Amino acid sequence: MSLTDKYKVIQRISHGEISKVYLVVDNKTSAKYAFKVVNFSSADDVKNFEEVEILNSLDYVSLPKVKLFFVDYQHNRACMLMPYIDGENLDIYLQRNGCVDISTAYQWFCQLANMLRYIHMRNIVHCDIKLANVILDRNQKLWLIDFSSACHEGAITKKVLTVEFAAPELMTERKARYYSDVYSLGKLMLALIGEDVYCNIINKIDSESFYDIELNLQIKVVKIIRRCLMQDPIQRYQKASDLLVDLLEAVE
Ligand SMILES: Nc1ncnc2c1ncn2[C@@H]1O[C@H](COP(=O)(O)OP(=O)(O)OP(=O)(O)O)[C@@H](O)[C@H]1O
Ligand SMILES: [Mg+2]
Repeated sequence: MSLTDKYKVIQRISHGEISKVYLVVDNKTSAKYAFKVVNFSSADDVKNFEEVEILNSLDYVSLPKVKLFFVDYQHNRACMLMPYIDGENLDIYLQRNGCVDISTAYQWFCQLANMLRYIHMRNIVHCDIKLANVILDRNQKLWLIDFSSACHEGAITKKVLTVEFAAPELMTERKARYYSDVYSLGKLMLALIGEDVYCNIINKIDSESFYDIELNLQIKVVKIIRRCLMQDPIQRYQKASDLLVDLLEAVE
């Protein structure tokens, strides 16, 4: 039985530079899947395709599993079938709804730091944490997707990085480090709460009046984001588990 006998394409979900993602439905069970097709310029690149290997080495409730994978050598493309996450990515969410309040931001920060802690524990660096690579599902649960840049700690990431979210050292050296994921997560959280809110709080913290203001959740979260965003990696949380400690302490 061919793939088109088994699955029906409903619509194209996204059209990236090298990959396209389609929503498909299993004709028999009506289960929905995301079908990702990644194009390569040469057969050698196909051989180096690591996304599936990495995803399959991870077992975490909010990371997608690959149900089916094959390489179409004739057209130099890799095809992956994953369960469809019913929701929208945070880039679209933000465009539609605007910034999130601090308690939502805090909950999402904890969810993402937890996922990242698990990934880092497995010696993997995601290397492309950004709004478009996080999906909010209908149960308000976040999923981290797109492991196309991911690699083992210390390895060189092959993919072109997202300038807006990538850590400065990752842009120049391309070496995958846990603290570079921490920086990108900080950027994501900054985008979610909004630069205005962030700068306003930072000004308060830096001003002398800081000692007069209540040490509330908003200030604690902003301080944690600031530490994630340090230009010098040594001053950042070194990995997600360190970040999580401060996040959990923020509500004590
Ligand atoms: N399993 C999924 N369920 C629902 N939507 C998905 C799923 N996987 C991907 N998408 C949607 O497709 C978009 C693009 O997917 P993804 O980030 O994996 O590809 P990409 O950024 O084009 O890939 P690459 O970085 O490899 O070029 C996501 O932002 C998301 O909106
Ligand atoms: Mg992506």
